[in-house]
Parts: sequence; structure tokens; C-alpha cells
Amino acid sequence: MSKVVVVNHPLIDHKMAKIRDKQTETKQFRETVSEIGMLITYEITRDFETVPKEVETPIQKTICNVLKKPVVIVPILRAGLGMVEGIHNIIPNARIGHVGVYRDEETLEPHEYFAKFPVDMNISTVLIVDPMLATGGSASASITMVKKRGATDIRFVGLVGCPEGVKKLQADHPDVDIYLAAMDEKLNEKGYIIPGLGDCGDRLFGTK
Ligand code: PRP
Ligand code: URA
Repeated sequence: MSKVVVVNHPLIDHKMAKIRDKQTETKQFRETVSEIGMLITYEITRDFETVPKEVETPIQKTICNVLKKPVVIVPILRAGLGMVEGIHNIIPNARIGHVGVYRDEETLEPHEYFAKFPVDMNISTVLIVDPMLATGGSASASITMVKKRGATDIRFVGLVGCPEGVKKLQADHPDVDIYLAAMDEKLNEKGYIIPGLGDCGDRLFGTK
């Protein structure tokens, strides 16, 4: 069974209040999603393996620790894009793949429409990034896509989750740990998370 980590930090809570607020406009919403993406990355990476590396400082040689494995960030289009810049700011060498998945508004089933990944997914730590874990259909389908490309070390990174989405992801992908900034109550009858923050893609890109 995978681990579920709800990252607890006053700065994250403060910024979550900002993006939940329906009065928050597109620009500030987008900036804040990115900032939370950066903050949550400290927790996601806490147990990343490191290897020793010799470095020559201006004074003398010393042994430092550097990340053992390459990192690939895979945002689920569209809303996942909002978290990429923040994560990339503190893992600047990470490469970026993309998966396009949208969920049918009636059936809530995920539909795949795009996939582009770096090579060497099999030796990388892959972060699947999407602010919303609702039914879990989009995240589960995206993880299946990266597994088909050889990824074995995968973590899901979201902002708002709910028990329904966590249950599905744990059932479909028990090897994938889940990191969230908040765990909400449940889904409403239209498949939106409550209290949630509404339609994240539309709020990020101003499409409604
Ligand atoms: C939203 C969100 C997730 C998905 C979550 O995307 O960004 O990808 O819904 O719902 P699920 O867990 O029930 O699958 P949406 O399909 O609205 O596409 P968009 O990001 O392009 O707006
Ligand atoms: N997708 C969103 O953007 N918001 C939700 O609450 C559920 C799915």
C-alpha cells in the first residue's frame, strides 16, 4: 500500500487559503499555485537518495552529496502545468514530460490525448503533477502511461485530494506514494472536490 503524505506547513496553509478563495484572480492564483508547488517539493524530495561527489572549493577538495537519480516532472495537462515552474525552480536539472488527459464532464472518465517523455524514464524518479486528485481517474491513467515508458520510481504530487481519489490511486498503483497539500472532505455529485477550489485549469488559464 502506498504512503499518503499531507504536507503540513503554515506557509502552504496560508497559500492554500489564497487559491481556495473565489475572489482570487487568475494572476495571483497562478503565482500561488506555483509557489505551493515549490514548497511541497521540499517534502517530496526529503528521502531522495544521494551519492558522494568530490568538489573543489576555492580552499580545498571536499566530498559533497548530490542526487543519485535524474528527476522527471510530468504535469498532467492542463492544470499540472501550473505547478511545474515552482518545482523546476528548486530542481533545475529536472527534465519535463507531458501527458494530456482530460476527464469527460458527464462520465468523469479520463481521456488521453497527448504524451511526450524524455528518454531514460526507467532510471529516473518521476513526479506526476496535477493540483487536483478528484476521482483519481486522470492521475491513474497518467501513471499507467509513464509505467508503459518504463518508469518504476513514481510519486504523485497534488494540491487538493479527497478520499475517493486516494482510494482509487492506491488500488490501481499501490507502488506510487501520494503527496498533497490538503485532503478535502469528498466529491460532490458533479465530481468536484468539496470544499476544493473549483475548476483548477479554468482558474489557472482564465478560460471561464
Ligand atoms: C482536472 C484536473 C485533473 C482532473 C482531476 O482536469 O486538473 O487533471 O480534472 O479529476 P479526476 O481525478 O476526476 O480525473 P480537467 O479534466 O478538467 O482538464 P484541464 O486541466 O484541461 O482543465
Ligand atoms: N478538477 C478540478 O479542476 N477541480 C475539481 O474539484 C475536480 C476536478
